[in-house]
Amino acid sequence: MMKLQIFVGIALAQNVWAASLVRGSTGFPGRPVKTYAECQRNTSNPLQGCPEGTLFVSRSSALADFNSIQDAIVSLLNDESAHVILVASGTYTEQVNVTRPGPVTLLGQSDDPYLGLSYGNAQSDTTHHNEVQIVWAAANNDSSGRIFDNAFTSVLTVAPTWNASLTGTGPTGFPVPPDTPFGNSDFRAYNIDFRNVFAPQAAGPSLAVGVAYANAGFYGCGFYSYQDTVYVGKLGNAYFYDNVIAGQVDFLYGFGTAWVEKSTLALRNCHGAITAWKGTNTTFTNKYGVYVSDSRVIAANNSIAASMERKCPLGRPWNSLHRSIFLNSYMDKSILPEGYIQWGITDPRFDGNTFMAVHENFGPGYDATALNKSTTLVLDDQTIRPYRSPVDVFTGPNGESGDVSWIDEESLLG
Ligand SMILES: *[C@@H]1O[C@H](CO)[C@@H](O)[C@H](O)[C@H]1NC(C)=O
Ligand SMILES: *[C@@H]1O[C@H](CO)[C@@H](O)[C@H](O)[C@H]1NC(C)=O
Ligand SMILES: *[C@@H]1O[C@H](CO)[C@@H](O)[C@H](O)[C@H]1NC(C)=O
Ligand SMILES: *[C@@H]1O[C@H](CO)[C@@H](O)[C@H](O)[C@H]1NC(C)=O
Ligand SMILES: *[C@@H]1O[C@H](CO)[C@@H](O)[C@H](O)[C@H]1NC(C)=O
Ligand SMILES: *[C@@H]1O[C@H](CO)[C@@H](O)[C@H](O)[C@H]1NC(C)=O
Ligand SMILES: *[C@@H]1O[C@H](CO)[C@@H](O)[C@H](O)[C@H]1NC(C)=O
Repeated sequence: MMKLQIFVGIALAQNVWAASLVRGSTGFPGRPVKTYAECQRNTSNPLQGCPEGTLFVSRSSALADFNSIQDAIVSLLNDESAHVILVASGTYTEQVNVTRPGPVTLLGQSDDPYLGLSYGNAQSDTTHHNEVQIVWAAANNDSSGRIFDNAFTSVLTVAPTWNASLTGTGPTGFPVPPDTPFGNSDFRAYNIDFRNVFAPQAAGPSLAVGVAYANAGFYGCGFYSYQDTVYVGKLGNAYFYDNVIAGQVDFLYGFGTAWVEKSTLALRNCHGAITAWKGTNTTFTNKYGVYVSDSRVIAANNSIAASMERKCPLGRPWNSLHRSIFLNSYMDKSILPEGYIQWGITDPRFDGNTFMAVHENFGPGYDATALNKSTTLVLDDQTIRPYRSPVDVFTGPNGESGDVSWIDEESLLG
């Protein structure tokens, strides 16, 4: 049986960015990463400003190298070479699987980075969208009632093998064969929405993205689903900058390491919790977990905000080694005052190893007194130290620390 259990469960120019770091009433706005702004811009020659060799995907242009994103990806050699793929505006109904080890950069055509427009600073998820949409509709069961591993459902999967991408069962998931190679070493996507549109509410795990045994960075992207939107599996490292991530049940889950920076988490209701993490005992000190930093956690729209007031838990332990931290983030009044919860009433999965933490958040949903009296750990300036930035937490397969060369540097300057 698959986890998660069926739950009982603005235009901001770069020069004004510094000023905007002052805490506002609704949190920190993001700013776009402009690394590929010239290439992403919609110009009459679509490849103007792109790195040499960039492939062009379009459903309609005569200049297209491919009409589907997956066709462009499978055309790449299974080696260490680096490739860039520009995707024209439009909706692509397909699953995208990236298994090759060498760097792959997917660029969504968009004028936004060029104009300095943030994607992640959304007030609502309802009409928010990038020009490039990748859409798929799947949950972990079909009409005949068959149950699949959650990994089958994902719009985008970045993992070296099918087995490595599986969610699996038990306290640590399926074992992955020891000779499994690590890779993709450096996957990046810019200004693309990944939408799993299986149902307009939670109806079983429906992933928008899964990353396992790989490094992946997302800039100006959107991830939309209801249950288990973002999955970061075994040895997965995933970085989300200036993104919108929407969901309702356990919508950031996994075993690996995820860092969410200057993004909006949009609550489409609350069941389960926002984060549901499974830790792993390793021979080295690991920091597997999910970190939400300088971001905003808000109701997805005003019509549902009132029904969620003070109800949405920050996280719950998928196993007792859960680690998650919300730091320096804005929380609207949807958030449960006590913060985190146990897994279930008869199945708490909570013990002295469980690390469900907060540090210096703000907004009407952040109740320091209530948090202090709950299972939530309130970290001070000393105890937050090992977890202050991506370089502190991302590790290689054998616990090597500090490699963030796969993260777009511009996003780390902020
Ligand atoms: C992009 O530019 C081309 C040519 O300049 C134009 O035909 C097309 O409508 C533009 N697409 C969008 C989504 O703005
Ligand atoms: C899958 O399971 C969910 C939750 O049990 C249920 O609501 C949904 O209808 C099922 N979907 C299909 C296609 O059977
Ligand atoms: C992507 O992976 C899923 C799960 O293995 C599979 O069902 C699907 O066919 C794959 N899609 C492509 C386009 O390779
Ligand atoms: C994948 O894992 C399953 C179950 O653990 C195993 O039977 C199978 O041989 C594995 N496949 C590969 C290609 O390693
Ligand atoms: C608000 O969000 C909920 C959950 O996604 C959705 O069902 C509803 O249609 C949205 N309402 C509006 C007015 O956008
Ligand atoms: C991890 O190790 C601790 C301490 O030895 C043990 O109590 C716990 O059950 C282990 N948890 C898992 C999920 O392996
Ligand atoms: C939290 O608890 C500690 C120790 O019990 C106490 O010193 C501190 O004042 C409390 N803080 C708040 C905000 O309640």
